[in-house]
Amino acid sequence: MSTESEGEGLYLTVEEERMLGGEEGPAVAKSMELLVGLGEVFGAERLVPVESAHISGVSYKNLGEAGLDFLEEQAEMGARARVRATLNPAGMDLDLWREMGVPEAFAEKQLRVVQAFERMAVELTCTCTPYLIGHVPRLGGQVAWAESSAVAFSNSVLGARTNRESGPTTLASAVTGRAALYGCRLEENRLPGKVVEVEAEPRTRLDYSALGYLTGKLLGTTVPYFKGIENPDLESLKALGAACATSGGISLYHIEGVTPEAAQIPPEALKGLERISVERADLSEAASLLSCEADDPVVCLGCPHCSLKEIHEAVKLLRGRKLRRRLWVFTSRGVYREARGRGYVDVIEGAGGRVFRDTCMVVAPLREMGWREVATNSFKAAHYASSMGLVAQLGTATELVEEAMR
Ligand code: F3S
Repeated sequence: MSTESEGEGLYLTVEEERMLGGEEGPAVAKSMELLVGLGEVFGAERLVPVESAHISGVSYKNLGEAGLDFLEEQAEMGARARVRATLNPAGMDLDLWREMGVPEAFAEKQLRVVQAFERMAVELTCTCTPYLIGHVPRLGGQVAWAESSAVAFSNSVLGARTNRESGPTTLASAVTGRAALYGCRLEENRLPGKVVEVEAEPRTRLDYSALGYLTGKLLGTTVPYFKGIENPDLESLKALGAACATSGGISLYHIEGVTPEAAQIPPEALKGLERISVERADLSEAASLLSCEADDPVVCLGCPHCSLKEIHEAVKLLRGRKLRRRLWVFTSRGVYREARGRGYVDVIEGAGGRVFRDTCMVVAPLREMGWREVATNSFKAAHYASSMGLVAQLGTATELVEEAMR
């Protein structure tokens, strides 16, 4: 049964009305207010149940005091996740933060942030790749995910439906089990708006990252339909989506013959769409525009967080050798456990590198940690490092690791 919420133009079920009215407590009511307000702004006709949430806004570097206060207040008010909810990276490895050089004052605040989420029954996954550690929404399922790279992966590779949510809205969705039905949640908004003919034959993750960055710049928020990409691995798809979402606002892409919804797009929906061609020279140019020459950068792999395969690739280069530069690998705790079990972490540390969990080179307080230069294979990381005033160098993972050993 559903009723129309008075004067708000958005249909709410009886249960949703009860939540909004405060019958399930003040935290649920506040969360419903936020979602209803959002739905009204975007012209949603109703809310939709969500199966899970992935919550961003975890690093104290981005949250600041106001964000910490908000989260502690929510926890105090009794906010509790009623659907599965995982957490994006924090500003530090929750155990090894001293070894990262994170200031004590920052760590104290960061731990309070994480404790607030724990009180709200959120899983302390602290990763931007929840889909690598068992949080894998089903095709067609409605979810409420934040973290633009995870949103792109969820929509495009898994075919689960989410808008590019924010920290507060994902928390509200976790607490109510609802989201406003608009945007990428609706069939008609999942159709492509432009065709990208990929002539570049992307091979490395850096190529995919460059392709995504270029596409985001050219298309803004338009859904791309890529042609000419063959057999990309999962890691290439996560690199592509992360970069698409960085330079533009792309939350969903299709790849002919690869992503699950591409085959369902009627041919007539592609006819008449503007076509853009991307050549190899375009990828090189994108890299040269963003990349700077660094003297002695910290080599950072893991934006988005490394999979086991990516860690293994680094291990194959490092086995029995020594690094002359710092190499930091970022991953989730789940992947770290497997990597440690297989001896990969020992190899990286034996070569002089480090593997950190829970955080990354963008959300950690790098400047307070004294960093000036980073080298990365991720356009997303380079983009944000540059915007933080750091020198950012781009290269493939192989190039960067080899260079770090010379
Ligand atoms: Fe993940 Fe940090 Fe990159 S959150 S996508 S590793 S900027």
